[in-house]
Amino acid sequence: MIRFILNQNEISTDMSPGTLLLDFIRYQQHLKGTKIGCREGDCGACTVLVGETKDDVLRYTSATSCLMAIGNAQGKHIVTIEGVNLTGLNAVQQTFSDEGATQCGFCTPGFIVSLAGFCMSSESPSYEKAIDSVNGNICRCTGYKSIERAAQKINDLMSVRGKKPALQFAVEHNIIPEYFLGIEERLKAFLRELESESLLGVTHSQAPVKFLGGGTDLYVQQHDTMPYEEISFLYDEKELKGIVQKGNECEMGAAATVADIAASKVFIEYFPGLEKYIKLVSSTQIRNMATAGGNFTNASPIGDLTIFFLALNAQLVLANAAVKRNIALKGFYKGYKALDKQPGEIIEKISFTLPAKDELFNFEKVSKRTCLDIASVNSAIRVKIKDDTIVSAGLSAGGVGPIPLYLAGSSEYLTGKKVSVELVNELIAIVQTEISPISDARGSEFYKRLLLSQLIKAHFLKLFPALSLQKIISIPA
Ligand code: FES
Ligand code: FES
Repeated sequence: MIRFILNQNEISTDMSPGTLLLDFIRYQQHLKGTKIGCREGDCGACTVLVGETKDDVLRYTSATSCLMAIGNAQGKHIVTIEGVNLTGLNAVQQTFSDEGATQCGFCTPGFIVSLAGFCMSSESPSYEKAIDSVNGNICRCTGYKSIERAAQKINDLMSVRGKKPALQFAVEHNIIPEYFLGIEERLKAFLRELESESLLGVTHSQAPVKFLGGGTDLYVQQHDTMPYEEISFLYDEKELKGIVQKGNECEMGAAATVADIAASKVFIEYFPGLEKYIKLVSSTQIRNMATAGGNFTNASPIGDLTIFFLALNAQLVLANAAVKRNIALKGFYKGYKALDKQPGEIIEKISFTLPAKDELFNFEKVSKRTCLDIASVNSAIRVKIKDDTIVSAGLSAGGVGPIPLYLAGSSEYLTGKKVSVELVNELIAIVQTEISPISDARGSEFYKRLLLSQLIKAHFLKLFPALSLQKIISIPA
């Protein structure tokens, strides 16, 4: 039985837990304001807000309902466009109308819901955060300038909030209806009820089943069959959550999302460029849903997190009902979409040694669009430096082979070398011998080889800005 609160109403359904939230909202609840655009997480027309109590505090995040199973809504508050409607236009809708930020209107519910989520966040507001909240929403006819003006006005409204609780402010300023003020208590009581009925904490010990994290890849690949699968839900499992520092190690649950990583104090402290790297990973909605373990397991040769963690030489704990074992992430990939993973096994934990003060890290990605796009080529590097000499290095690259690549030969080559233009040129040549890109929709083989050379340059430009990069060649002749 799946139970959650949808707008103001409690839902209790015995539909398959793999049913898409989008379909449930539109076809079972007949709430047609949530639109179907791409069904792949790319357009944001199906955006909903997901409210859940974490550490006893109610927080809302945005999600694409076209990739979310109703099983992942268990015990949560789901908000559609109808859930933020007032008798007249709410303040966000009014601003869109005033600024001419809507034309055909198809994308508008998604934008309004995303921006309502921005207004409901307890973080201090800013124009950049307002824009970030809609970076997973696409409009094909209005043009973005009027939407940007609307976002600016909404941020102006929020900037007078001061220390007032976000939900209270949003209710008082006609952004959301009053019923939101009662949701926290309703949700807590609801969770107690679910716990007493053992409807929380789905076990992942039974095989064969489909394991599901955030669903952002599985529902793109298998959207027709997922509603009929026996699913074991991992996304909310407590033991798969959390990011903690243990000495000089970081340990994280495999169900930590990209958004969890972005908000993690540990990552913020040890990766000064984190915000920039994370913004290259899909969109706000997808980052709220996509898990690290899911990214590793989908085995995409261009998985952004996979490339990030390969350079860190991350270690995995794989577990099934009976056994746990440890392997290195770089040993996890055996061939195209082939993993060192037994049936019934899941990734339980991910760990890596945090960069020390004399270590540098960088992540680069090139895709056709900056936001919300799959990489053509991506790469990460970690180097430990002593007196201009590289003591140890880890270099990874995606989109240039059948699997996400840890470039062992290139990493080894860097070790013990003095940083120089010549070294970068030599590295670019060696990297070319370790990769085997193919020509496809994301570019020709030559283009990908060239891109990776440019990303290697970019790594060294960022990490060693004193290098004279015009002397660095792009790709060996
Ligand atoms: Fe396009 Fe869901 S329908 S993101
Ligand atoms: Fe038509 Fe945005 S208003 S797609």
